[in-house]
Amino acid sequence: MSYSFQIKSFDEYKSAYQRSVEEPELFWSEVAENFHWRKKWDRVLDWNFVEPKITWFQNAKLNITENCLDRHLKTNGSDPAIIWEPNDPDEHHRILTYNDLHFKVNQFCHVLNNNGVKKGDRVCIYMGMVPELAIAVLACARIGAIHSVVFGGFSAQSIADRLQDAKAEFIITADGAFRGNKEIPLKSVIDQSLVQCPFVKKVIVLTRTRTPVSMIKGRDVWWEDELKKVETMGNPDFPAVEMDAEDELFILYTSGSTGKPKGVVHTCAGYMIWTTYTFVNVFQYQKGEVHFCTADIGWITGHSYIVYGPLSAGATSLMFEGIPTWPDAGRFWEIVDKHKANIIYTAPTAIRSLMSFGLDPLIGKNLSSLRLLGTVGEPINEEAWKWYHENIGKGKCPIIDTWWQTETGACLISNLAGVTPERASWATLPLPGVQPILVDERGNEITEKGEDGNYKGNLCLKAPWPGILRTTYGDHERCRVNYFATYKDLYFTGDGALKDDFGNFRITGRVDDVLNISGHRIGTAEVENAINMHNGVVESAVVGYPHDIKGQGIYAYVIYNGKLDDENLTRQDISATVSKVIGAIAKPDKIQFVSGLPKTRSGKIMRRILRKIAEGEISNLGDTTTLLDPTVVDEIKNRAI
Ligand code: WT7
Repeated sequence: MSYSFQIKSFDEYKSAYQRSVEEPELFWSEVAENFHWRKKWDRVLDWNFVEPKITWFQNAKLNITENCLDRHLKTNGSDPAIIWEPNDPDEHHRILTYNDLHFKVNQFCHVLNNNGVKKGDRVCIYMGMVPELAIAVLACARIGAIHSVVFGGFSAQSIADRLQDAKAEFIITADGAFRGNKEIPLKSVIDQSLVQCPFVKKVIVLTRTRTPVSMIKGRDVWWEDELKKVETMGNPDFPAVEMDAEDELFILYTSGSTGKPKGVVHTCAGYMIWTTYTFVNVFQYQKGEVHFCTADIGWITGHSYIVYGPLSAGATSLMFEGIPTWPDAGRFWEIVDKHKANIIYTAPTAIRSLMSFGLDPLIGKNLSSLRLLGTVGEPINEEAWKWYHENIGKGKCPIIDTWWQTETGACLISNLAGVTPERASWATLPLPGVQPILVDERGNEITEKGEDGNYKGNLCLKAPWPGILRTTYGDHERCRVNYFATYKDLYFTGDGALKDDFGNFRITGRVDDVLNISGHRIGTAEVENAINMHNGVVESAVVGYPHDIKGQGIYAYVIYNGKLDDENLTRQDISATVSKVIGAIAKPDKIQFVSGLPKTRSGKIMRRILRKIAEGEISNLGDTTTLLDPTVVDEIKNRAI
């Protein structure tokens, strides 16, 4: 496959950008010509940010899997689509060519069909990083079912919340998942969540770990048994279901500033074009290269840059089941060497964590196949950038710092590898079609530079790109209020940013009550709700603080009712509660017991003060005179951890 829309020089970028802003419809219709449509669009773009209502490629018909699979078969059928590296280096890796993947996805479509899954049904997928996860995702897309992948680290309660919100009647899972030296009992977690979800009709269970599971008659079926039934059916092909451009492709839950995660909805055509366009341009993918994205498919990065973007581009996507530090901290580099990966795309957290092991894990690993290094998920500090550049890229590979969000579908601000200039810790320039603007609290554009010579403000976007979210599942008003109501006619990202004279952006972090822990988003309200479920807790307040490896850590201030005989034991109980309610990723790093919280007279917690204390900045707390009881601040300060 050749990519007519691949930008090859800085000048080409500039002219593409300009055209995308001046003539967006023409620009995107030309890009869209590179895809397979059952029927082309009547109109490229129709939108307003008031409702909001955004439609791309109106009335066009397609199936994304015909773009990710079928169209590659004739010329590239025997090329590897997915290279899968297992958790345990002693287990054999697997290679699925485009022919293989097409075959398996079609087979699994029959399984879904035989089990009653139809177009528009919601299917929750809760699996580890095995090729069958990608197969399940693609099979849903092929029959027009809406997938909702839930990361394997989430708790039974989190799954139940998501199943109820999406009214998902079908689940695809596995007996268990391998992660480092751990075995995660996926099916048993699903069983716990289903106590609250009697509406679930079918659970399809893949065998992976041989963890014992209980299979409920009439509800639970084995993946392998269902496949055997399909094998006796003869023709394995399953015709892709024709989808409208704006039909829902998937739901992916993500945290916001309220207690309840929102189901971000992406639709078929816009998401396909945006993931493919950005994959080909940001990574500057060349045919035959091996692309290694280390994310989990449970997050948007895995959806867009392990599955849909690479496969639609006919690329080879390397998928890894395990973790970077097991059996040792050289695992990523061993994989790069073994499979001759050309691209590695990972999170700054992983880089910082691997940095802390020194250079020994690199000994004997040949990294010369690497052409490009990428980062995503959180701001990258200069030290980690330099380490990555020198030790992994040997000073020769460009680094792309890609800024985006679950809601944006794929990258919005990033340098294009080796094509547009890079700058350590700056995401740099917006992609064609992306129109960022920095505003103040009232929504006015920032026009004055700060002392450092940069503009500084809240990051918004002025116009839609094809991959923008369309709604939050089941609650469009929530989508409007969350993203489109803060500032008139703008999409608000929740991030703060700097901009220099050349239009380069540096993302500084969230400006709302959302934390970024190891590149994963967690709402402070969500963690507070979970802590408050512990029966001894009266009230809590959660803030983030700088953490050397995770980027941000979770600091919880807790008012405890009752005797604290053993503070550490109670801390463990509270952490266990958070693990049960959300998942281990949301466990507080620090818990401080307090007798009161700093509140204004209207009862609002002054998080600014708590944040400063958590950051260790106790000398300069700013104005505390509006507090109901200023003495509580002294107590908190004196006992800070
Ligand atoms: C938030 C989105 C993008 C997929 C993974 C995370 C932060 C993301 C960067 C970056 C600085 C970044 C932002 C954003 N973020 N990429 N390159 N530099 N910050 O997706 O869970 O939806 O989180 O991650 O704060 O809003 P997500």
